[in-house]
Amino acid sequence: MLHTFLSVLAVIPLSVLASPTFWGPPPCPSEEPSTQNISTANSFTSTFGRPFPTSSIKPPAPQNTSTPQNSSTSSSPSSTFGVPIPRPSSSGSPQSNSTSKYRIIDNYDKDTFFDGFTFFNAPDPTNGNVDFVDGDEAFASGLAQVQNDGTIVLAVDSTTQLTPGQNRKSVRVTSNKSYNSGTLFIADIFAMPHGCAVWPAYWMVGPNWPNGGEVDILEGVNDQTTNQITAHTGTNCHVNGGVQTLGKLLGGACQSANGVNAGCAFSLPDTSSYGHQFNLQSGGVYAHTWEPDAIKVYFFSRGAIPQDILDGKPNPDSWGTPAALFTDNTGCNIEDSFQDHSIVFDITLCGDWAGSAYGSMGCPGTCQQQVADPANFQLAQFKISSVKVYGHN
Ligand SMILES: *[C@@H]1O[C@H](CO)[C@@H](O)[C@H](O)[C@H]1NC(C)=O
Ligand SMILES: *[C@@H]1O[C@H](CO)[C@@H](O)[C@H](O)[C@H]1NC(C)=O
Ligand SMILES: *[C@@H]1O[C@H](CO)[C@@H](O)[C@H](O)[C@H]1NC(C)=O
Ligand SMILES: *[C@@H]1O[C@H](CO)[C@@H](O)[C@H](O)[C@H]1NC(C)=O
Ligand SMILES: *[C@@H]1O[C@H](CO)[C@@H](O)[C@H](O)[C@H]1NC(C)=O
Repeated sequence: MLHTFLSVLAVIPLSVLASPTFWGPPPCPSEEPSTQNISTANSFTSTFGRPFPTSSIKPPAPQNTSTPQNSSTSSSPSSTFGVPIPRPSSSGSPQSNSTSKYRIIDNYDKDTFFDGFTFFNAPDPTNGNVDFVDGDEAFASGLAQVQNDGTIVLAVDSTTQLTPGQNRKSVRVTSNKSYNSGTLFIADIFAMPHGCAVWPAYWMVGPNWPNGGEVDILEGVNDQTTNQITAHTGTNCHVNGGVQTLGKLLGGACQSANGVNAGCAFSLPDTSSYGHQFNLQSGGVYAHTWEPDAIKVYFFSRGAIPQDILDGKPNPDSWGTPAALFTDNTGCNIEDSFQDHSIVFDITLCGDWAGSAYGSMGCPGTCQQQVADPANFQLAQFKISSVKVYGHN
C-alpha cells in the first residue's frame, strides 16, 4: 500500500542536508527494552509508554479465501506517486562460492546514512496528518539524529500539543541512489514506530509509479501486530498462488492505480515482525534479494539473525523459505515490473490507510484527536542500525 508515492522527490527541492552525525539527547528508559546495545548512555530522548491493544490489519482483497486475522474491510488507500531517478544498472552475475556470492555496494550506517538519503518535505502523497520537515529542521528538532551509540533515529514529533486537524511534524527520507536487480538489501532495525494513527514504512519504489514498481518491506498501521509485505506494479505482475512463503498471501493482484492500491501482499504470521513485539526483541533484520526472476523478502528477529548476515557475508541460499516471494514462476514479470528503486523510510499519521482503518482497529476517538496529543508519539520512531546494499561478486 503504501505509499507509493513519492512523487516528489523530483519535484521538490530537496532540501537536503547531508551532514551527518547529530547526537541525541539524554537517555531514557523504555517500556520496550532493547537487548541490543541501544540503550547505553546518551540514547534518545523520549519516554515511552503506551498501551497496545490488539487488533488487526486491513489487508488487500484476499485472493485465497481465508481472510487474515481480524481484518476489516475498508477500501484500500489511494495514492499518487512516481519518482524519477537515473538508472543504474545491476551488476554482474554470481560466481565464486567462497563464502558469499555478494559484495557490499553501499553501507548506510551512522556515518553515512544521512549523506545518502534526502529529506522529502512535500505534502504527504498518502494524505497523512503530517508535515514532513526538511533536513535542517529534522536535525535541529531531533526528529533525525544519530545517537551516541550509533543508532540512526527517524521520529515523529512527540512534544508539540496540537489541536485536532493540525498536522504533526514527521520525517520521510529517500536514498539518493537507486538500484536494480542483482542486489540484496539488509536493513538492521532496532525499533519501529507503531500505535494508533501511526503508519510507518520501509520500502522501495521506482519511477513513474506504478510502472517502476514498489515493494513495501516493513509496513503497517495503527495497532497492527504483524508485518505486511506488499508489491505494487504496472500490468505485468501477479501472484497466482502456489508460492512457498512464510507469509500468508492476502491478495495476488499487484497491479495498482490511484484508488485501487491494495497491491499483492503477504501477511507474516510472526508477531515479532512488527510493532510492539518487534521492539521488545530489539527488532531484527529485514533482508530482500532482487534477481531478474524473483524478489524474496526475509525477516529475522534479533535473536535469529543468520551468522552469515552478522559476518557481512550474506548467503541467502541458506536462509530457508522467504516471508514473501514475487516471481516470474507465479505470474510476475520482475524485470518488467521493477526498476530503479530508491530506498525510503517514512512515518505518516492517519491518511489513506491508517486513517481509513483507524476506527475498525479499535483505536480511541478519531485519528485527528490522536494526532493532537504528543504523548501518543513517544514510540513513533525508527531506530536503525544500518541498511546495507550488496551486489554479486
Ligand atoms: C554491544 O555491541 C558490542 C559491539 O558492537 C557487541 O560486541 C556486544 O556484544 C553488544 N552487546 C550486546 C548486549 O548486544
Ligand atoms: C477482531 O477484533 C475484535 C475486536 O477487536 C474481536 O472482538 C474479535 O474477536 C476479533 N476477531 C478475530 C477473528 O480475531
Ligand atoms: C564451492 O566451491 C567448492 C570448491 O570450489 C565446491 O566444491 C563446492 O561445490 C562449491 N559449492 C557451491 C555451493 O557451489
Ligand atoms: C543526495 O542528494 C542531495 C539532494 O540532491 C544532495 O544535496 C546530496 O549531496 C546528495 N548526497 C550525496 C552523498 O551525494
Ligand atoms: C489457496 O490456498 C490453498 C491452500 O493453502 C492453496 O492450495 C491454493 O493454491 C491457494 N490458491 C491460491 C490461488 O493461492
